[in-house]
Formats: sequence, structure tokens, C-alpha cells
Amino acid sequence: MDYKRTLITAALPYANGPVHIGHLAGVYVPADIYARYLRLKGQNVLFVCGSDEHGVPVTIRARKEGITTQQVVDRYHELIKRSFADFGISFDIYSRTTSDIHHKFASDYFRKLYDEGKFIEQTSEQFYDPETGHFLTDRNIRGECPHCHSLGAYGDQCEKCGSTLSPEELINPYNAETGNPLVKRPTSHWYLPLDQYQQWLEQWILEEHKEWRSNVYGQCKSWLDGGLRPRAVTRDLDWGIPVPVEGAEGKVLYVWFDAPIGYISNTKELCDAQPEKYGKWETWWKDPSTRLIHFIGKDNIVFHCIVFPAMLKADGSYILPDNVPSNEFLNLEGDKISTSRNWAVWLNEYLDDFPGKQDVLRYVLTANAPETKDNDFTWSDFQARNNNELVAIYGNFINRALVLTGKYFDGKVPAQGNLSDYDRQTIQEFCNVKAELERLLNDFRFRDAQKEAMNLARIGNKYLADTEPWKLAKTDLPRTATILNLSLQIAANLAIAFEPFLPFSSAKLREMLALETFNWESLGSTDLLAEGHQLGEVSLLFEKIEDAPIQAQLDRLARIKAENEATAQAEALKNWQPAPIKQATTIDEFDKADIRVGTVLECTNVKKSDRLLQLRIDDGMGGRTILSGIAQSYPDPSVLVGKQVLFIANFPPRKMMGIESQGMVLSAVDADGKLVVTTVTAPVRNGAQVG
Ligand code: 2FM
Ligand code: ZN
Repeated sequence: MDYKRTLITAALPYANGPVHIGHLAGVYVPADIYARYLRLKGQNVLFVCGSDEHGVPVTIRARKEGITTQQVVDRYHELIKRSFADFGISFDIYSRTTSDIHHKFASDYFRKLYDEGKFIEQTSEQFYDPETGHFLTDRNIRGECPHCHSLGAYGDQCEKCGSTLSPEELINPYNAETGNPLVKRPTSHWYLPLDQYQQWLEQWILEEHKEWRSNVYGQCKSWLDGGLRPRAVTRDLDWGIPVPVEGAEGKVLYVWFDAPIGYISNTKELCDAQPEKYGKWETWWKDPSTRLIHFIGKDNIVFHCIVFPAMLKADGSYILPDNVPSNEFLNLEGDKISTSRNWAVWLNEYLDDFPGKQDVLRYVLTANAPETKDNDFTWSDFQARNNNELVAIYGNFINRALVLTGKYFDGKVPAQGNLSDYDRQTIQEFCNVKAELERLLNDFRFRDAQKEAMNLARIGNKYLADTEPWKLAKTDLPRTATILNLSLQIAANLAIAFEPFLPFSSAKLREMLALETFNWESLGSTDLLAEGHQLGEVSLLFEKIEDAPIQAQLDRLARIKAENEATAQAEALKNWQPAPIKQATTIDEFDKADIRVGTVLECTNVKKSDRLLQLRIDDGMGGRTILSGIAQSYPDPSVLVGKQVLFIANFPPRKMMGIESQGMVLSAVDADGKLVVTTVTAPVRNGAQVG
């Protein structure tokens, strides 16, 4: 099918904090590359985004900062919007979900489906804080993790061991804000019966969209294979879009119901404001000759590939996404990026520290884009890519071509003259770049596409290195002219090829080349700059980054890590509660365990295990070896040597990692999850029984 226009959406970021490199790498840079590429090709494109201002995260932030939720979203909406503009993310509109237009649009959307009987109403038991009179969302419930027993796990996830949880699984659940214990209360909500869309989704995704990225297709398949269930589209919350149904006071639309509708309402806002420029919003959302592409991160896949399409299908008048290029996650220096732990490089702070270097970050994030797997951002890689690639390859080529033209031809494009075989071979090579770039960009392979653009600079550098015009200038000026003419044509090609990736540098290069306009179609051409054309002023396209600013970033991260560890410890201590008493037992049962005292003679790490320590114990009976899973809690195992410990002596021997363990050393779990080995309060004879 031939499309007439492309509607590009980028996930609406939560307005609960500034945006960081993970957001940029995962969603906004790839979406922007794609939008710029299509525009450069002269296609009809609309690029839509805005702040996601509902949901629990913003309310949590407001309580933490002691300000109103509206103040939080106002503050972060402005900050996020500015960061995107600063980084050249070329949205046609960046609006927000607290706008009147959006509230009305989302409310009407719900009401239409409600009137048409597209929802089902169900009552279920939910956690409730009797003291505050509020139902709690998963994220607002905390308690002890049933898996690793760390305290303060969330109702949806334990951040310590990474397990996905439901609030029901938490031991001793409490209100994260107030610390109050919770009870269960019935409440009713509206659900989108996804099970009714199962078959249709299976056909549409699994049969008709086999071309989607394998991570996206795979996630959809596993959701579908697991069987879809109805999903609540309303919540008990006082922040959001009120459910437009009588008797639904105190209930709002679930944030994941209203946020994707934000793509539509933002389009409407733009089209209504400038109809002559953008046309009707319905054309973008309802005309089958529009191609819809959602750029998202992997945690959003189910919502964009299953839930939102089901919502669109339920309405019946909308087009569906043609593709949903989703990235995996970007880590920072080996650790998961986290807003709450401040483990991130914030875009606004980056620009304070590296003013004018937007393109360097764009370049590094695309070079490391987590397109097929999670990737890591490190400051040393950032520095190396800037110095060894942008400066040494791209910048160096441009500088040499322009400076030499200034020196030998007064900054005017010299005549192309007669081309040698080698010139023709070089032209052939750089002409191929266009087709390859298109193939990769059309396939959403931005990382490889940028590599291909850099290849063009490599071709230019090699050409200059092989032909050495600086040596020829004294003896053969016409040949020097040809070489520099071709080099300048390559430079102009670079400005085009890199425009989607590095828009600021392309603009700067265009100025240096005094190139008025360009378009994608002229990529590969050798007459972008006419003979005699006066070039602009020459300056450095990229600058070397020294060690000091990189070290400053590493020092900042080290400080944050130390602060986080201290906070986690304090938090764990604050929320600690003893585990509930186990079921009653008897002295006879207890007596079956033979607990003894022994002195640790040796204590070492077990090879290839980061969990086990091997203890040699004087048990008063000739000695024994015990393996214990306490290695994480004892980074220096030698501290246990000489200590008297308690151990169970009558467990059957068990082999682990090829070593036989003859018993179990007793330990207690500290509030932060650390294991502490138990001992006696005064020396006793080894082998003495405990009871
Ligand atoms: O994950 C997030 O950050 C969500 N705010 C994304 C919403 S995308 C869309 F549906 F609006
Ligand atoms: Zn856990």
C-alpha cells in the first residue's frame, strides 16, 4: 500500500522528573531521526508527543516535594519540553495530558465506548487504608518481599531482587506514604475485555506483522500465548480524568487509558490551531492512507501493541499502528537508570556541563542504541567516541577539506576538472551510501545507519590521505582543484547524511559550506557545490573532550552511589518489622535439630560462586566443612576466622559446587537483607550442644 503521510508518535514521558539519557536513547532520538529523515525526503510527516501528567508517579513526587500535583506537572512539563527542544527533538507538537482539550477528548472517548457497551463492570477486593480513607495503587503499597525478604518492596516489584510482584504477595503490606497497615475492601471498576480481542490481535500481530522487531513480536506473542484477561481502565484516585459516569465519583480513568489517547488529542490540538498547515486531525488518525508509527521503550510494548490497539478497535473508526519500534533499556555505568535513585544523566544537567554538545550525546546514544538488547552508557565510551570518531574522522575530514580550500583557492569551490579512475572509484563508493542508508533507516536500524553515515566521512578521509593535495598544490594546481572539489562535495553530502542524526552539526556545516538548502534526493550527488561558490567561515565542527570533565561526571556518580547506599540502609532500618511468628512447634520437634558450637578455622570464597563461603570448623569431633550462602554479606571472609559459631550438625551431607557440606551455619537476617552469623556470648568448648 502506498502511504500519503506518516504519523510518528513518541511515548509521552511522565511529568514526574526531568528526562535523562535513557529516555533520549530509547525513544526520542530514534523517533527524531526517523521524522527528520522522512521530512528530508519531502514526505508528509507529523511528529507528536507531550507530557503524561496523570498516574501515581506524579502524585508520589508531589507528596515527596511537599507541593501540589499540578505544581509538579507544571514544573516538569516545562523542563522536559525545554530539554527536548534543546536536543533538537523536532516535534510538531509537544502538549500535555492535563490540557482541557485532552481531558474532554479522553473523557468522550471513554463515554462512547461505555455507551456502546464495550466495557464490563467488575467488583474486586483492593487494598485500602482505613486511616486515610483511600484505596491504594500497587506502587503505593510496600511490604516485605516474599522472595528475598528485603523490606520496602513495592506492590508491583521488588527493587532489591527484581521480582515482579502483586500487592497480595507482600508480607505485612503497608501504605508507602503513611506506614499504615492495610485492609481489603471491595470496589468496582470498568474493564476492557481484552479476552474478546484475543483472536483478532493474534491475527493482526502474529500473522500480519511478522516484520516487527523480534523483541516486540516476541513480547506480544508471549502475552497472547498466556491468554488475555480483562484490564481495568479506571482507578480509585483523586488525580486524573474523572470517569464520566454517574455514581463514579472518586474514580478516574487509568493513566494508561488516557495517555495514548493523548497522541490523538495532541494531534487535534495542533490541527485545530493550524488547519491550513496540518489539515484535519481525522486525516492523521482515521484515513487508511496514513501510516502510524509508535516509538516506545520496552516497558510500553503491551500497552502500544495490545491495549491501545484494542481501544482503537473498540471505537472502530481509527487506523492501527503500522510498526512499533521499541528499544530495550540503556544502563548507566553498569547499573539500571533510576529516577528515584538519581542514577541518571539528566539532559538539563548535561547541557550545563557540556554546553553546545547536544550532537555528541545524540551521536553516542545512537552508536550505543539498545535496539536489540540492553546497552550500557559509560563516560569513557562517550569521550572515546567524541575524540576518536566525531573529532578524528568526521571533524578532521571537514576541517582539512575547508582549510585547504581556503589556503589554495581563497575559500572558493575549485573546478572539478578531469576525474581520475581513483576519483571515479571514490564517487562510486560514496554514491552507494544513499541506498544503504535508506535501507537501514526504513528498517528502523538507526545504529547501523549512523555507522553508514560515518562511513562517508571515512571515505573522505581516505581520499584525502591517498591523494595528498597539500603536497600536490605546489606542482599540480588543477589536480589539487579536482581533489578539493570532490572533497567539498563529500562534505556537502555529509551535511545531508548526518542531518537526521546530528542536526546541529549539519546546520553548522551547511553554514561553513554556505549551502542554502538541501534534500535527501541530492545525497550521492557530486555537484552540490558549484565551481566558484564562496564558502563560509571555517570553524571546528567538533572539539576534543579532555579527561577532567569526564572525571567530574564519574565523581558525581560515585557520590550518588554512596548516598543511595546510605539512604537504602536508613530506609530499611526505619521500616523494619520482625517477621511473623511461625506456626507453633514442640520441644520434641525442636530437639530433633542438633545445634552445636564450633570455631571457624578457615573461611574462604568458593570458586565460581558469588554466594557461597567454605568454612572449616573445629567441631570438637575432628572437624568438618560447611558451605554457607553468606558470601555477599562477608566480602572479607577472613573476619569469621577464630569466631565461635552455631551450626546444625545432623543435616545429611550435601554436595554443592563439587564440595560436600556437612551441616548449616546459623545466621540472622539484618534489616538491609545482610546475613549475620550467630555466636555465643562467652567461649564454650567446641562441640557443645545448644538447646
Ligand atoms: O512509560 C512511560 O513513561 C509512560 N508515561 C508512557 C506513556 S506512552 C503513551 F501511551 F502515552
Ligand atoms: Zn525481593
